[in-house]
Amino acid sequence: MRQRDRNKAKACAALLMVLALLPGIWTACGASPEKADAAFWRPPAVAGAAKVLLAEAESGVKHETSAASAGEARALRADAQSSAAQEVGAASAGTARAMSADSGAAKEMSAAATRAAAWGAAGAEPEAKRRLLVIAHRGASGYAPENTMAAFDLAAAMGADYLELDVQMTRDGQPVVIHDATLERTTNGSGAVKGYTLAQLQRLDAGSWFGSKYKGERVPSLKEVLDRYYGRIGLFVEIKSPELYPGIEASVARLLAQYGGAGTPSFRPVILQSFSAESVEKLRELMPDFPLGVLVVARSDLTDRKLRRFEQFAGYINMKQSLAGEETIRRIHDRGMKVFAWTVRGARRAELLRLKGVDGIVTNFPDEVMCRVTG
Ligand code: G3P
Ligand code: CA
Repeated sequence: MRQRDRNKAKACAALLMVLALLPGIWTACGASPEKADAAFWRPPAVAGAAKVLLAEAESGVKHETSAASAGEARALRADAQSSAAQEVGAASAGTARAMSADSGAAKEMSAAATRAAAWGAAGAEPEAKRRLLVIAHRGASGYAPENTMAAFDLAAAMGADYLELDVQMTRDGQPVVIHDATLERTTNGSGAVKGYTLAQLQRLDAGSWFGSKYKGERVPSLKEVLDRYYGRIGLFVEIKSPELYPGIEASVARLLAQYGGAGTPSFRPVILQSFSAESVEKLRELMPDFPLGVLVVARSDLTDRKLRRFEQFAGYINMKQSLAGEETIRRIHDRGMKVFAWTVRGARRAELLRLKGVDGIVTNFPDEVMCRVTG
């Protein structure tokens, strides 16, 4: 083939590639709430193309179209990565919620988690940005009822690094996943969570308040969440209102002790956190090696004296985002702790926080930031 023909062929291939990727780029970076339906994200043909790109990106082979310039290869790699997150979404459309019963989907999930871990590895690309962890607040709670399996499955399909969830305790001493100490806001029940046994709580509807399509979602037990996700996606578990539940730390520690596998290559960690530093201290005594965080809502909790105390038992400070100034973040990093910030909306805000030094953001809309901050 003459040089001119070769150039023409390359240009054609590049154009085709751009056309194939356009819908994916649009759906990955847009902020359309319809994306709550994972099936909406990517047409199958493009998903197939993304798979090829991902395989190439993962094996380090530069794409051969369009002279495979370094810049283009980077763009393809970034797109292949965000496409893969959507692959999980596409693959799990309709199946994600039945994942516990579907080992095929479960395998997809753990493969996705492994890939996510690989992309997060420092130095994967010389020019890679420092990676910002994306933590789905109460699941993908912008799109599905908070703290339900629907919200967790959706966040997992979106490629979030961690699922954040809130734990209270039932009358029969079972750790249960719900944000409020009372039932009115997020279920069709009423009264205190601790007034009900787990079996009674699980007869309530925890989805209809958010939308009729979620009718029948239940209040999950912590055990159910661990059974479904432990080790396959990061879990960021908040002990809520520990003053209402004497012994909640020991119950959670006992439950977690039944799960193993930490340290294996694809294992995704569990971090426990609380607004109550006393509760985190108790957890530290019960679980000497476990990752723990302190939630901070006021500047007065970020003095050197307080940080000196927190560093004795915590590795993470999870603060209200308005407190996340550069100097504060540096002081926390200097003490060897990581900084997360909540509750963040939008890629631009997330990028700003990343530039200030934040290590992870807690968001109700994980899809809005996935393709922008995980490159
Ligand atoms: O992880 C941060 C966040 O969960 C703390 O606030 O009230 O949503 O539990 P809240
Ligand atoms: Ca929480």
